Amino acid sequence: MAGATGQAGEQGWSSRTAFLLAAIGAAVGLGNIWRFPTLAGENGGGAFVLVYIACVFLIGLPLVLSEVMIGRTGREDAAGSIARVAERSGVSTKWSVFGGIEILAAFLILSFYSVVAGWAIYYVFVMIGDVASSIGSGAPFGPAFQGEAQDVITGRMGTLFGSLGTMIGMHTIFMVVTVLIVANGVHDGIEKAAGTLMPAFFVLLVAITIYGAFTGEFAQAVKFLFTPDFSQLTPTAVNEALGQALFSLSLGSAALITYGAYVGDDVKLAPTAGMIAAADTGVAILSGLMIFPIVFAVGLDPAAGPVLVFQSLPVAFSQMPAGSLIGLAFFVLIFFAALTSSISLLEGPVAWVIDRFGLKRLHAALVVGGGAYLIGLLCAMGYNVLSDVRPLWFWDIFASNDILDTIDGVTGKIMLPLAALGVSLFIGWRADRRLVAAETGLSAGMLTLYRFVMAWLAPLAVFLILLFGLFPGLL
Ligand code: PHE
Repeated sequence: MAGATGQAGEQGWSSRTAFLLAAIGAAVGLGNIWRFPTLAGENGGGAFVLVYIACVFLIGLPLVLSEVMIGRTGREDAAGSIARVAERSGVSTKWSVFGGIEILAAFLILSFYSVVAGWAIYYVFVMIGDVASSIGSGAPFGPAFQGEAQDVITGRMGTLFGSLGTMIGMHTIFMVVTVLIVANGVHDGIEKAAGTLMPAFFVLLVAITIYGAFTGEFAQAVKFLFTPDFSQLTPTAVNEALGQALFSLSLGSAALITYGAYVGDDVKLAPTAGMIAAADTGVAILSGLMIFPIVFAVGLDPAAGPVLVFQSLPVAFSQMPAGSLIGLAFFVLIFFAALTSSISLLEGPVAWVIDRFGLKRLHAALVVGGGAYLIGLLCAMGYNVLSDVRPLWFWDIFASNDILDTIDGVTGKIMLPLAALGVSLFIGWRADRRLVAAETGLSAGMLTLYRFVMAWLAPLAVFLILLFGLFPGLL
């Protein structure tokens, strides 16, 4: 098996399947079910989806392979692994600074991720209450929220945002569960969680998609997602598509390097990376096919933005058969997806704290999870008591962002691309060619293509996102 892995890894994954489920669990998350439909909806659908898929396979997939390979070769946390690969390539270990950026990005993403996942937990409770009352009233397969006016249904989001106590409660539940799983280790914690949650997730996803296909406007959704209208494709949309590809594949945020460190030497990395990218993209598209038929069925606006999933969909559930049960299943699905991702967000920094400072896993999980929790509290306050705070008010692209959006923006627009840029330049130009060839196991032809992508295509594309993301005025 994995053999001598950095202290965090103990014995590593018990099988290739265990790794695959954990890595797919890391990739599939709020990014697929909440962010992707939101962005596709806001950017006109088809053309955005097409650019997104191109970004995933041309740039994202080679980067996934690179990060997992760095982890397995270095067998340490994200920074340590890059340093080990640099040593073996005879170049400066300073490249590990990009690993440091990844670890910090993961820590920051975790803080707000837990708050948004908390919204899903809140809606799980709402839907449980609704299912209970529908059973009580003798109509268990009826629509959700019987007899409630639409503004009462949509008003729940505002009620949640207005109640700091509820927001903190949900954030607390989510973070505690995440910390508990990671504290149990790679084998007994992460692997077990992914092994149960991911299959359940897939069953729910397929079931709700089939439900939407029969009861919703499936054809309209297909048309919306797959008919590209290139007039809708702004440079900002292209920029967002690439950023979303990085976020969704969990690139630039320590997760894949760290999970890679626990992978056995016998696992072939290239096909494995391909499966991770394909599964993540498949789930994003299926999520679109799950959500938009329901959105169109009741004439909601696909461009509703970040509230689409939490505020718009309950309205749809209130007008559809069995909406109460489907709604419950839907928010449980979001919760499961978010949990397997937050575990990977926590594991990256935790592995670093263990490797670097020799802390016990439990203590490392408490320290890192606790720190992210505190920043998450600020994010939650940004919706009520600190709603006037604009942390980067002086920087035009972030000026109107509240606390949560600021952290989301800084990590997504700056830190992930920067880390991805560093990794691609490192692999494309500095890492030892024979080492890369041996570890990726690519054939000669594929290797040439891969190296071209890492040396030129990925850095150039990512550099452009960074540039235009930070200075939109240049466009
Ligand atoms: N990929 C996850 C999602 O789509 C988020 C994530 C980012 C997880 C970075 C780990 C690391 O929701």
